[in-house]
Amino acid sequence: MSRYQLHHLCIYERHPRDAMWNWLKWYHAIPAYYWDGYADMHQTGEGGVDYTFLACGAPFQLQLEAPPYQFEYERKWFAEHGSGINHICWIVPNAWETVDHLESHGATVAMPYEEFGGTYNGFVAIDPEGRWVEIMEYVGGFKTPDVEFHPVGHVGLQALGVVQLCRDLDTQVEWYTEVLSQRVVHDARSDNDGLVYLADDTYRERQCVSVLSTPSTEAEAALMDRHGPAISSVLYHADDVEAAWSDAVSAGFEPISPPAHDGRIGAKTGYLQEPSGNIVQIRERLGL
Ligand SMILES: [Fe+2]
Repeated sequence: MSRYQLHHLCIYERHPRDAMWNWLKWYHAIPAYYWDGYADMHQTGEGGVDYTFLACGAPFQLQLEAPPYQFEYERKWFAEHGSGINHICWIVPNAWETVDHLESHGATVAMPYEEFGGTYNGFVAIDPEGRWVEIMEYVGGFKTPDVEFHPVGHVGLQALGVVQLCRDLDTQVEWYTEVLSQRVVHDARSDNDGLVYLADDTYRERQCVSVLSTPSTEAEAALMDRHGPAISSVLYHADDVEAAWSDAVSAGFEPISPPAHDGRIGAKTGYLQEPSGNIVQIRERLGL
């Protein structure tokens, strides 16, 4: 069975050139920008390409993708949902092998397996609650560049991963652990409510997590009402959570709640929202 390693989340963003300033003013860098003119990249004949990758001291990255989208199924999603987090991407050693594996475990395929020249092979699946799962296998020497894995700025900010809102938390934890081979690194559930931190077996070196959660803030409940079980938040940890949070406000993010102890997470946590509605969550540094 393939190992599934968290790589990026993708924001479909109507105005990425404006939206990216929030992130750039808040300790992020641009490790890669791909567009139509980039040789061999994602050329399928169906539509344009405009991807900007953003990174903050960690392997887990953000991808901002601009309309019009490359494939019909993507354009349909954007027409329905507007700007928002569209998918999470997982790197696997062999993408083709995972198609049957995911389909036989309740996922559906949104975009069939395709080989994108000498860059990557992949497809897009939809998990049992409707969240999009991009599967990617690098081929040849291609790789979206990494940044240095080191806390950024005087606040020591690092991207940590992603939060996905669930309707039936227990069954989704089961699916992500059994089918995507994730393991539970923090479990704060009771009566099918709460949250779980999941990681793959590279957790010690890469320190990336995906969090499955029920809505706990009004902003999360509103996202769930609007989009159903959604990929809701970009998750960070910082050495100085207060300063990282107020720097985010200065950078243009909307405050939701300033850092305070969060019993579910077991750490001081602050929440913000970016203009297109995605939630940004900053927590105290996660111990390994
Ligand atoms: Fe992606």
